[in-house]
Formats: sequence, C-alpha cells, structure tokens
Amino acid sequence: MPAEPDNSRAENQPAPDPRSRVSVVDEQPPRPAPPPGADEGDYRYHTYKVYPSGRPDAVEFVDTYKSFGRARVLRGLNMALPEGMVSMILGPSGTGKSVCIKHMVGLLYPDRGDVLVHGESVPNMSDDDLFEMRKKFGLLFQDGALFGSMNLFDNVAFPLRQHTEKGEDEIVEIVERRLTEVGLAEAREKMPNELSGGMRKRAGFARALVLEPDIVLFDEPDSGLDPVRTALLGELILEIHRDMMDDAKAKGKVHLPTFAVITHDIMSARRVADYINVLWKGRIVEAGPAEDMLNSENPFIRQFLAGESQGPLNMD
Ligand SMILES: Nc1ncnc2c1ncn2[C@@H]1O[C@H](COP(=O)(O)OP(=O)(O)OP(=O)(O)O)[C@@H](O)[C@H]1O
Ligand SMILES: [Mg+2]
Repeated sequence: MPAEPDNSRAENQPAPDPRSRVSVVDEQPPRPAPPPGADEGDYRYHTYKVYPSGRPDAVEFVDTYKSFGRARVLRGLNMALPEGMVSMILGPSGTGKSVCIKHMVGLLYPDRGDVLVHGESVPNMSDDDLFEMRKKFGLLFQDGALFGSMNLFDNVAFPLRQHTEKGEDEIVEIVERRLTEVGLAEAREKMPNELSGGMRKRAGFARALVLEPDIVLFDEPDSGLDPVRTALLGELILEIHRDMMDDAKAKGKVHLPTFAVITHDIMSARRVADYINVLWKGRIVEAGPAEDMLNSENPFIRQFLAGESQGPLNMD
C-alpha cells in the first residue's frame, strides 16, 4: 500500500489541483483519482458534484488529508460552508464529521491540504491569529457543555466576562436577551443539573451566541432529544439564523452568519438545511443547496437523504 502523501513536495513537481471540488456549471474537470491506497470502486458513488450555492464560502477544505495512525479519516476532502447559509454535514458514523469541526477551529491540523476560514489558512496562522480567529466561532457540543458549578445566567455570561471588557449592566442585558431568545428567561437562576437535556442544549446555544459569532458550529445538537424537541430545536436554529441575518444586514457586517449542523437526523436535516454536504470515506460524495441534493439521482445520496435501509450503504 503506498504511504499517505505528505506536505513536502519536490520543487519541480506540479502542485496538486486544489479545484477538485467539481462544479456542475463549470466545465467538468477530470474525475479526481481515488486517494492513495484506495480502489476506484470504493469511490464509485462519489460524483464530486457541487451544485452552486451562489455564495462565497465562509469555510473551505482544500484537498485535506488527515490520518490518526493507520486510520485515514480525511482523504482529499474538498468541502465548503457557504456564507449566510445553514449547512448540514451528513455522513455515516465515524466518517470524520467531528474531526472536520476541529480542523475549522484549529484544534486539529491537516497532514496535507488546507482549511480556510474567510479565505485565511487556519494551519498557517500564528498563535495570536488563531486566538482572534476562534472568536469568529460559536460552538455547540452534544450536552451543551455547561459548567456544573455555575447557574444558567453565569454560564451564558461566562464568554462575555472572559473575552470582553463589557460592564455588568451590558452583560445582564445581553444574557437576558439570549436567554429569552432560547426560551429560558425564567430558568436563569437554575443550576445545570436542574435542567432537562433539551434545556441544557438551548442554554449551550445561548452561550455560543453571546459573542456574536460569524460562524456557529453544532455537533449533533439533537442527540438524546425526542422527536418533538428535535423539531423545536431545528426551528430555533432557523429562527436565530434569520435574526442574525437581519442583524448582520442592518449593521452592514462584512460577513453573513454561517451555521453548520452535524446531525444523524435526516428529517431535521431536510427541514433545516439550506445546503447539504454528504461526507463518506473522507471525501464529499456530492454537495449543494438542499433542493438540488434532495433531487439528486445518485443512489447513495438518495438512500442517505431518505434514511432507507436499502441501497449502496450497508452495515460494514
Ligand atoms: N484525536 C483522535 N485520535 C485518534 N483518532 C481519532 C481522533 N479523533 C477522531 N479519531 C478517529 O477518526 C474517525 C472519525 O471520527 P469522528 O469523531 O470525526 O467521526 P464522526 O463522523 O463525527 O462520527 P459520529 O457520527 O459517530 O460522531 C474515527 O475513527 C475516530 O476514532
Ligand atoms: Mg461526531
């Protein structure tokens, strides 16, 4: 098996084509070769089609490779989150969705290739730049990741106290607004262990938004929620995205708010997504606006977006 390629390249060798994100409006570039060590057949459902979003990309993976020991996780990934859209990253368990999120915020670095946030290369940032760049992000993990020793108000106020010079009056105003937005105004004095799973997630959401991030990442926000609460959380995500869009336009912000949601819940993906990336075997199978993806003729995409047991994807 050939070794995974590394970042060092002989001077006289041509650079790999970073544009292997195949756009359906452009002339079709040649189909990218399978990753080193893989058969073409393993990638037969990867058409690499990218239906145009009409927006610039807020986050972009360019031919990104990442292995952990012998586990090759990202294998020449070309993926984007278009600005101002709610994107979904969908894919079977263990395909590297959480690994992608960690690359966006510089918690992991690619072995090869690049990750760009608003056009700037994350792996090439200095520590200071990385620190500044991370302020662009709001992160929401599975359980809300609240501090158990602080009440809800202090949890949500924490990033403001940590990262800004704002006075207490302003902090109270911001935190109350965010708690109201997620329907938790009445619960401000409660401790995390007094909250239900759904409330903890909404609290985590409020906390992820207090610094007015340009990009919000949700890693399985719906895990452990019943279907009704999952649907409500999906609606909340859409509502807050709409409010943030209005706010960004009113304030003339440079960047429109970009959300990325990782989920296993196909129904909420269908309801919430503006844009869908389907990740499998370390590469994007197809990506594009939700309506294009829901009409895709690719059997893998069809099976995956319909959540059917019959199709190319099996248990192995
Ligand atoms: N820090 C790490 N060290 C070693 N292996 C890792 C590390 N992080 C992730 N992996 C491996 O990378 C692969 C992809 O993991 P990842 O958590 O990104 O999957 P996922 O798509 O988020 O899956 P799920 O849908 O189950 O959450 C897994 O095989 C995992 O074991
Ligand atoms: Mg994960």
